[in-house]
Amino acid sequence: MSPERDAAARMFGLEGRVAIVTGASSGLGAAVARALASLGARVAVVARRRDKLAELAERIDGFAVACDLSDLDRVGSVVPAVVEGLGPPEILVNAAGTMFTTERAESEPLDAVRRTTDLNLLAPFLLAQAVFPHMRAVGRGVIINVSSISGRVGIPGIPQASYAASKAGLSGLSAELAVQWAKHSIRVNTVAPGFFRSEITGPLYESERAAEYLRRNTPLPKEGTADDIVGAILWLAGDAGSYVTGQTVVVDGGWTAR
Ligand SMILES: NC(=O)c1ccc[n+]([C@@H]2O[C@H](COP(=O)([O-])OP(=O)(O)OC[C@H]3O[C@@H](n4cnc5c(N)ncnc54)[C@H](OP(=O)(O)O)[C@@H]3O)[C@@H](O)[C@H]2O)c1
Repeated sequence: MSPERDAAARMFGLEGRVAIVTGASSGLGAAVARALASLGARVAVVARRRDKLAELAERIDGFAVACDLSDLDRVGSVVPAVVEGLGPPEILVNAAGTMFTTERAESEPLDAVRRTTDLNLLAPFLLAQAVFPHMRAVGRGVIINVSSISGRVGIPGIPQASYAASKAGLSGLSAELAVQWAKHSIRVNTVAPGFFRSEITGPLYESERAAEYLRRNTPLPKEGTADDIVGAILWLAGDAGSYVTGQTVVVDGGWTAR
């Protein structure tokens, strides 16, 4: 390999680093877990569905931790399990998230608002708190929160007030943690995807009217996939992103550029 190719490979290499990926039983989280493992990371995969996690963990020689992250009393069990199974984490990707309701804002039930905020915002915050002492001890770390373009712009026709608020909260949280923890060389960023096909959005793509709405509002002439989002996460996770912190990187085919 030429010295330049060697240097480029080093920028993205994650050999031996322990990573935690939440929401890894499907969609973007699973794609991120596979990609991190392919670059040499030892990956702990976290979600509720044990069968899916076990299958993926076996495939990538990783470690499965089943946890309902909307139960905030149980979130504290994740990081100690990973430390015991793989060692201290240097990378945390908070990809678990969902939209519990598409009620219009004026009638969103408080319970749905709370569940959304617990899973999408508070669980990532608690996990960041839990990895912090380990990252501080090794003197480096990367936290990547997966938000959404709806944390930045309103999405006409698909009501999602609490989801949008929780995702916008991740950008604020990332910026603040980035500043507080920079002295320990811990970087904290947010990746905000536009629409891509997954279990959450599957029903949307099944409706031709909705699929046409997504096409019309996405300048790039292709349908987004989880793999389109993975690149930004790999860039931030590795040394290639070593001078980037506190940012929200939007990966949306141009949706918010219009
Ligand atoms: N698809 C899109 O268009 C889009 C756009 C913008 C942002 N996003 C964000 O991207 C992230 C990944 O979503 P995706 O599209 O890949 O959807 P997905 O395939 O439905 O993945 C969601 C993941 O979150 C996990 N999860 C859900 N509730 C959980 C809970 N209570 N405890 C633990 N894990 C839980 C699910 O696993 P279990 O069911 O096994 O628990 C699953 O692994 C989410 O944060 C989502 O908000 C997606």
